[in-house]
Amino acid sequence: MTPQPDNQATAELLELFATGASVDGEELVVGGCHASELAASFGTPSLIIDEGALRARARRYRDGLASRWPNSQVVWASKSLPCTALYRVMHEEGLGIDVAGGGELVMALSAGADPATFVLHGNAKTDRELEMAVAAGVGTVVIDNFDDIDRLERMVPDVQAVLVRVMPSVNAATHDAISTGHSNSKFGLSLSDAKRAIERLRSSDRLRLDGLHVHVGSQILDTEPFTRAVEAIASLGEFRVYDLGGGLGARYTHDMRVPPVEEYLDALVGAAHEHLPASARILIEPGRSMVAEAAMTLYSVVTVKRGATRSFVAVDGGMGDNLEVSLYGQAFDATVANRVGRGETFSLVGRHCESGDQLIESVALREPRIGDVIAVPVTGAYCMTMANNYNGALRPPIVMVHNGVANLVQRRETYDDLLSRDVAWPQSRRRSND
Ligand SMILES: Cc1ncc(COP(=O)(O)O)c(C=O)c1O
Repeated sequence: MTPQPDNQATAELLELFATGASVDGEELVVGGCHASELAASFGTPSLIIDEGALRARARRYRDGLASRWPNSQVVWASKSLPCTALYRVMHEEGLGIDVAGGGELVMALSAGADPATFVLHGNAKTDRELEMAVAAGVGTVVIDNFDDIDRLERMVPDVQAVLVRVMPSVNAATHDAISTGHSNSKFGLSLSDAKRAIERLRSSDRLRLDGLHVHVGSQILDTEPFTRAVEAIASLGEFRVYDLGGGLGARYTHDMRVPPVEEYLDALVGAAHEHLPASARILIEPGRSMVAEAAMTLYSVVTVKRGATRSFVAVDGGMGDNLEVSLYGQAFDATVANRVGRGETFSLVGRHCESGDQLIESVALREPRIGDVIAVPVTGAYCMTMANNYNGALRPPIVMVHNGVANLVQRRETYDDLLSRDVAWPQSRRRSND
């Protein structure tokens, strides 16, 4: 095995894959598994997660927060990669779980995670979802609007702990679609509305107001918006619990600078020391930065097309398994996994019927050929979350790799799955007004 890359470009590329990734001959190795063997065993596209890197990240967050603010809890934002195996790993690592809606709640419960550690979110929680949460014993419900209060007061049999989500009027520099802290956001209550909600909750005998929640957005590459949000909510008075949300960015390309977890925690906890009561319990809800860098997607090259102005490498996936590019313009990098290195410049495109179905506008790939395996690193967050059946694509499997062993934790969809929700019709020949 030759773990050392033979040049600087390859070394930079390898930095984007899970820690410990190496090159054996010309072949990418992650979690001790050769990329081509993974592709042969599980097919493509496939999401490959390095379990060691995932657990290491969870511990880095957990221990990093605990050492800076002992009365604290890291709560994984499960929307970033909702898959039963992931819920299990995060629970085993001692993290709480942020669930947004009934589906995530069901998955978290089926993984055996403790509902007392769950934080339920949503700007449009239905009666059914709130009933499910109350019945399951979800520890904390985050109030996003006054209707949440009405609904919960009607259905809570005993006492339910709640937080009020506050819109801090902090405009974090990120894509508009994933910026949530500004004053036009659909999430949370303005400072003045939050005051009214707090008053109302203080007089409730069923809803126990524990504190406040704030989340300013996702893929944030600067610590300042996080600290400004802490300062903003501190003006609402003193509480027992502050959930400071998630939002730290992931490093998708080598030229990006992302604050390390420790730098982010230093800034956040620094702001907490400055503005929040010393006795308060602090929660944080990282999603993207928890899971993104532990995973890669493997594709197969279907065609290589050299044109007069542009050359394309087209793979067997695309916006069916990665909407981050077309929704948010997220930049990614890639390599031919069985011939790691740089070469000619191509657009890496998918197989879907849109020109916007492009994984990377311009990427240097080393001699790509039909049948080669392409590895795109940093696809752990929100890619599977938003995977879809565009053009009848089958959602990819999830494979966990560790110490040279690969385990399938979620199988690929099948064509039968695509047909499985169909119902024979008509079921009745009666007209509705008969
Ligand atoms: C309430 C809440 N908390 C946490 C997160 C996780 O954010 P990120 O994945 O950027 O860490 C989100 C996602 O946007 C969210 O809406």
